[in-house]
Amino acid sequence: MLEHPGDWTRTDYCGELRSEDIGRDVVLMGWVQSNRDHGGVIFIDLRDREGLVQVVFSPQVSGAVHEKAGALRDEWVIAVRGKVTSRSPETVNKNLPTGEIEVVAGEVRILNTSKVIPFLIEDDINVDELLRLRHRYLDLRRPFMRDNIITRHKTVTATRNFLNGAGFLEIETPYLTRSTPEGARDFLVPSRLNPGEFYALPQSPQLLKQTLMVSGFDRYYQIVRCFRDEDLRADRQPEFTQIDLEMSFVREDDIMNVVEGILKSIFSEAAGIEIETPFPRMKYDEAMLRYGSDKPDTRFGLELEDISGIFRDSQFQVFSCALKKGGIIKALNLKGRAGDLSRKEIDDLGEAAKSLGAKGLAWIRVSDGEWQSPILKVFSDQEKEDLKNALRLEDGDIVFFAADTPHIVNMVLSHIRLELGEKLGLIDHGRFNFLWVEEFPLLDYDPAEKRYVAMHHPFTSPREEDIHLLDEADKSGIRSRAYDVVLNGVEIGGGSIRIYRKDVQEKLFKAIGLTDEEARAKFGFLLEALEFGAPPHGGIALGLDRIVMLITGADSIRDVIAFPKTQKGACPLTEAPSPVDTAQLLELGIKLDVKEKKK
Ligand code: AMO
Ligand code: AMP
Repeated sequence: MLEHPGDWTRTDYCGELRSEDIGRDVVLMGWVQSNRDHGGVIFIDLRDREGLVQVVFSPQVSGAVHEKAGALRDEWVIAVRGKVTSRSPETVNKNLPTGEIEVVAGEVRILNTSKVIPFLIEDDINVDELLRLRHRYLDLRRPFMRDNIITRHKTVTATRNFLNGAGFLEIETPYLTRSTPEGARDFLVPSRLNPGEFYALPQSPQLLKQTLMVSGFDRYYQIVRCFRDEDLRADRQPEFTQIDLEMSFVREDDIMNVVEGILKSIFSEAAGIEIETPFPRMKYDEAMLRYGSDKPDTRFGLELEDISGIFRDSQFQVFSCALKKGGIIKALNLKGRAGDLSRKEIDDLGEAAKSLGAKGLAWIRVSDGEWQSPILKVFSDQEKEDLKNALRLEDGDIVFFAADTPHIVNMVLSHIRLELGEKLGLIDHGRFNFLWVEEFPLLDYDPAEKRYVAMHHPFTSPREEDIHLLDEADKSGIRSRAYDVVLNGVEIGGGSIRIYRKDVQEKLFKAIGLTDEEARAKFGFLLEALEFGAPPHGGIALGLDRIVMLITGADSIRDVIAFPKTQKGACPLTEAPSPVDTAQLLELGIKLDVKEKKK
């Protein structure tokens, strides 16, 4: 029954035919989306990459062809030769770009059949993600997935065009590279030629792009895969793509200008959206104070307020103890919306806060001049008065409080803020709010490891006037030259001006607890390169997957990656990862010591 395309040459994409094409003879090839028999006339929706067109098979044109059309089933691959004709006004389909025309088939060839598909090739259906990933080739036929992949292509094209036009050179760096701890866990690759030794897949090309600056390439970029063995989330994959760049002889402003240019072209060319530049900027400290987050979603207000001052000597032990231990108290005033939250919803928020590590989420609701709160009894009149003034409390407000370490308070309240914003419809989903967050602290104290760790990475430059503080015992106040670009509360990029002097780099390694030997063993080549005329330089990496996710409105970066991994790091299509032959392991000198995998 199967036929060859033979001497037929496809003339058009199904989805691109328009009324201008009326009268043309065309040859189309594609997939059968649906087959409807309307009283003797058969309508096939034929689909290809560009969309759908209606093909009509009438017994008046050819009895044999009409009969053949009757046998066509969903997802069969066919070739059709026919004429583009106009539809009668009452049959025009305004929802379809090809809806003003149809193709009257003169001949059809069946190129391939299909098994019955496990889910429909449509957008608005609920399919288990594992099944989608297992049959990814079918999932990618669905219009929204196809559009996401096309938008991704346009994003990459716009980026390349912009950067090529701005004098950047695209230079590749190796995927088989050296393991450099710091940051996430590495994926390791055993070396057959060097038994017992391993390459690591790069978490980013950081050290090599800096090396390229020492080489004098001046403006580098790469659209590059990065590998991090982390726990996965909606916006995290073990392999993801960065738009990575580095420039010499620059300041923060120069990098920011380039990034704003890239994003402007991406949004314009991939989504037809004109965004405004320059982006607003906010210092890290201000972002933490107002939003409790270094990636604030600025599409809505509901800002955090620090009210620690009110409770220094409070009778309420929970609050005063937290303060005595160096903690803080912050509040969120949901103005005028108290009536929108039921008691159960308030309790659920408390549970959510606890699951994030808070000890509780106190609240006060004001209605008809009365304050309601589980902790009302413990407040003094003065505290009530101060609270009222500080939070501008009025009828209809509900305030949430958290008292704990600054880290926990900010983390918990920033989550509660986002949850309330989403739940109460405070977020305008049509908006794209970009923001630069700058002046991050250079170092962060890790109590578990009892040492400072680099907040961005250890190649980030301190601000010039803070360099001397690297020698002090308390290094928490050192400001860095790092910056992040945030879109709607998602970190879409991060970078910094780098250290280019060997003495400063050595000081920094020392500050994060690396001995000279350790530093040399891990980053020796960079330290050495810094001694051979390293120029001042800086750069950034943008998360391509996250940018495309935000442009397309996808829920997860998995929906903008053709072949992503599951939460467990597996690919249901190829069934990677998989066990390997003992012979393969022997060749690598590897002996396994793992428990039997649970089925
Ligand atoms: P950073 O680690 O901040 O910086 O990464 C840059 C951007 O990459 C994206 N990203 C991810 N996207 C998906 N899945 C992941 N697992 C993932 N991890 C990061 C984020 C992030 O902002 N070498 C430095 C950059 C520099 O200093 O130039 C770096 O990699 O959008
Ligand atoms: P408790 O004394 O534990 O019964 O808590 C009384 C109220 O205070 C409850 O509403 C708790 O959610 C809240 N609460 C307890 N600990 C904290 C805290 N650290 N920060 C904010 N609220 C808290």
